[in-house]
Amino acid sequence: YRYLDIRRNPVKNSLLFRHKVAMEVRKYLSDLDFCEVETPYLIKSTPEGARDFVVPSRMNEGQFYALPQSPQLFKQLLMVAGYDKYYQIVKCFRDEDLRADRQPEFTQIDCEMSFVNQEDILNTFEAMTKYIFKDVKGIEFEDDFPRMTYDEAMRDYGNDKPDIRFGMQFVEMNDLVKDKGFSVFDNAELVIGINAENAAEYTRKQLDELTDFVKKPQIGAIGLIYLRYNADGTLKSSVDKFYNEEELKKWAVAFNAQPGDLMLLLAGGADKTRKALSELRLEMGTRLGLRDKNKFSCLWVIDFPLLEYSPDEKRWVARHHPFTSPKDESFDDLMNNNEKAYGKILAKAYDLVCNGYELGGGSIRIYRNEIQQAMFRLLGLTEEDTKVKFGYFLEALKYGTPPHGGIAWGMDRLIMLLCETDAIRDVIAFPKTAKATDLMSEAPTAVNRDQLRS
Ligand code: AMO
Repeated sequence: YRYLDIRRNPVKNSLLFRHKVAMEVRKYLSDLDFCEVETPYLIKSTPEGARDFVVPSRMNEGQFYALPQSPQLFKQLLMVAGYDKYYQIVKCFRDEDLRADRQPEFTQIDCEMSFVNQEDILNTFEAMTKYIFKDVKGIEFEDDFPRMTYDEAMRDYGNDKPDIRFGMQFVEMNDLVKDKGFSVFDNAELVIGINAENAAEYTRKQLDELTDFVKKPQIGAIGLIYLRYNADGTLKSSVDKFYNEEELKKWAVAFNAQPGDLMLLLAGGADKTRKALSELRLEMGTRLGLRDKNKFSCLWVIDFPLLEYSPDEKRWVARHHPFTSPKDESFDDLMNNNEKAYGKILAKAYDLVCNGYELGGGSIRIYRNEIQQAMFRLLGLTEEDTKVKFGYFLEALKYGTPPHGGIAWGMDRLIMLLCETDAIRDVIAFPKTAKATDLMSEAPTAVNRDQLRS
């Protein structure tokens, strides 16, 4: 009964809002001489990290098209063809596990420009973001969006899409807590914490709830240590047995805490603990009312690693996609197969983050054939694989390819934020369920044998 559902004003308003944003984006980009070009939906697979939806070809028996995960290679080919400023409001298709902010078919505002560097892209599209927020929402961002490197984001927030509507940055405690006989801390690779301001009055019950929260399997912490800075200036912790008042005072100083604050600490393996503390930080932000839906905090996250090692596949994989350029200083490492350096290579890639959501992402591209080939080699593709999968693209790079780069917004996510909802389905007329089905028309369905045969 989705058609009844979308009679309701909240959904109707979000669809009207969506229309308005699309109009404004088109107007804004057209005024800057961007040209909207449609790219095909029946394509040869372009990898973006998810599974493809595939479509059989009747005229070519046994052969399949893929639906695009994004128009990535087509927009790059448009740069080769001399269309220096491209955009498209376009459907993308990814067969991946769904979450509240993910759909199997979703819409991107997809852009690409030639003869630009990262700075040009960030400036052009920051201006567009500000224009949209002002035009459709009446919100003006006075300052430049902050820029944070990936390393800083992971260090201070344990997350590459930090919600910076509130502080509560991570404080590393290893130096202060080790060797006092508390084995949980002594055995941990990392002890880190956050300071929840004005939460010292949290009751035993609330602290137990938080402990249960961090111990959930999807969060995976082994327990939660707290230090309460009472309003009267006394300190009370769950590890008083191991740390005296003097030592706990030093903790409070490290957290920059004031009377009335509550410090929460986690310990364990570094990556896992950062991830768990990131969840706890968001939970505390929500509980303390610091994640106001009508306040918007955007930032750019930059300097992502180009590659990450996949222990399952036992090979390096691209963090963004294989067409993203490494920083210039790393070209030699790539060309010389210097595997020792792979983990440290940085990409010319950037994400636009707002309120803890990845609103958009993009990169400056590899535009030289030999570097693109080196990249494929590094990712474990044989020369034969490369030729079969990307031969046409590598060939195109020989025909005078300009330096280029771009970005794509998740349009549904943008509307979701602007409409102040957490559910992407609220801003899509006919969305899919979490199991990728349409309950109204009952898609997908089995097809009969004749249809498969013909
Ligand atoms: P990326 O994969 O980061 O980049 O996607 C760009 C943006 O699209 C949104 N998005 C989604 N929204 C809803 N449901 C999904 N399943 C989904 N997947 C992604 C996110 C994301 O930031 N071709 C590159 C862009 C480029 O390099 O120019 C790309 O698609 O908001």
